[in-house]
Amino acid sequence: MPTTRQLRLGTMIQGASGNMAAWRHPAVTADASINLNFVRQTAQLAEAGKFDFIFVADGLYINEKSIPHFLNRFEPLTVLSTLAALTSHIGLVGTVSTSYSDPFTVARQFASLDHLSGGRAGWNVVTSPLEGSARNYSRAKHPEHALRYRIADEYLQVVKGLWDSWEEGAFVRNKESGQFFDSSKLHTLNHSGEFFQVAGPLNIERTPQGRPVIFQAGASSDGKQLAARHAEAIFTHQHTLQEAQHYYRDVKQQLPRYHRRPEELLIFQGVSVLVGTDAEDVERQYQQMAALVSIDDALNYLGRYFEHHDFSQYPLDQPFPELGALGANSFRSTTDEIKRIARQRQLTLRQVALETTTPRPLFHGTAEQVADGLQLWFENEAADGFIIQGATPEVLAKVVNEVVPLLQQRGIYRQDYPGQRLRDSLGLPTPVNSFTQVTQRQDVA
Ligand SMILES: Cc1cc2nc3c(=O)[nH]c(=O)nc-3n(C[C@H](O)[C@H](O)[C@H](O)COP(=O)(O)O)c2cc1C
Repeated sequence: MPTTRQLRLGTMIQGASGNMAAWRHPAVTADASINLNFVRQTAQLAEAGKFDFIFVADGLYINEKSIPHFLNRFEPLTVLSTLAALTSHIGLVGTVSTSYSDPFTVARQFASLDHLSGGRAGWNVVTSPLEGSARNYSRAKHPEHALRYRIADEYLQVVKGLWDSWEEGAFVRNKESGQFFDSSKLHTLNHSGEFFQVAGPLNIERTPQGRPVIFQAGASSDGKQLAARHAEAIFTHQHTLQEAQHYYRDVKQQLPRYHRRPEELLIFQGVSVLVGTDAEDVERQYQQMAALVSIDDALNYLGRYFEHHDFSQYPLDQPFPELGALGANSFRSTTDEIKRIARQRQLTLRQVALETTTPRPLFHGTAEQVADGLQLWFENEAADGFIIQGATPEVLAKVVNEVVPLLQQRGIYRQDYPGQRLRDSLGLPTPVNSFTQVTQRQDVA
């Protein structure tokens, strides 16, 4: 029997996708990370597959060891604004860090994107893992992990307050009377907190979605708490069905503490996918992709997660080195996982570096098998949806053309967009303006 709960899909716009050396793959344009035509085609392909959104990750520091895509890529809001004009229904989700930006600027930028796109904007809130970012933003020191999350919490309160500056319909623009706006629908935030002093109001009207959709990426306990309090969608990576179910339950159980219902926060698993005609074809595609990465490149890639640690100092074929707390102030959840798996499976440094660079895709096989895997995770409360990360550059087209029709036949994926806004697509409620909520409560009292 078809279920009413619908599986949701997004995809990353991440250069050629696949691994760090994907730019060398025969099927791709080598400059995919900075090629508008490529980005447009990817977004339009995902839209043809009725995907909920495209997702642009970001980072604020590079050095000569960074992977090719990070060395030369578009700033998320700029490229999403362009894509707003080149697409019509797909959500546009961009990453901006709360550690290196100001709430007033970011509130304006996402409000503008929401208007420009007819209600399709989403903000992926991150706290920035990379120490070097401080050097690009005139800071003496990168804030440590717990402090970053405290800043993010207050930051989000400010941005939400600014998005509520104007009630819907505040701009009456009455040419006859000369009344431009209704002052009773204007609210000034006057926020004064530990990290931010922001007067407001915001200089743009309430957006088509009420507020852009808030995504969060960060999987430590602080990260999950931030998501439970503020986010409407969460982007995470788990490696097994059981781990994903555990994560799913853990996050959803935190919601009542913030007077929220489970369906108000959607959990997206970022999954690597590879579609082939049979197991042999899948293995051939995987090996072709993996062979593009040299061991030196793989060590550099691994090092970035661990505060740009130099892994070339260790023997390659000995057990993965003991690193103590290294990585805890950077990509904590990711580095904890790498250390845990290396210990558990007794992997050498070479194995860890190559597997981290070209992970075996979580969902692989024929289109039928990939659809089975997604359905299994979805129906067993391991995910509300998936962010597809192609294990090769050719995967997205295969997911759209071969996997999506199967999900549709099974009644767990829509045939068309239910409306234009990202909130419609995700089935998320439109937020009530916090200032009118207060007024209503006062009226009742
Ligand atoms: C799935 C996932 C995606 C992330 N994407 C980004 C990103 O695009 N840009 C960024 O600066 N940080 C990103 N982060 C890192 C977070 O911003 C955070 O600073 C870091 O992971 C530490 O938080 P955590 O320990 O809670 O995961 C991501 C983290 C996760 C788990």
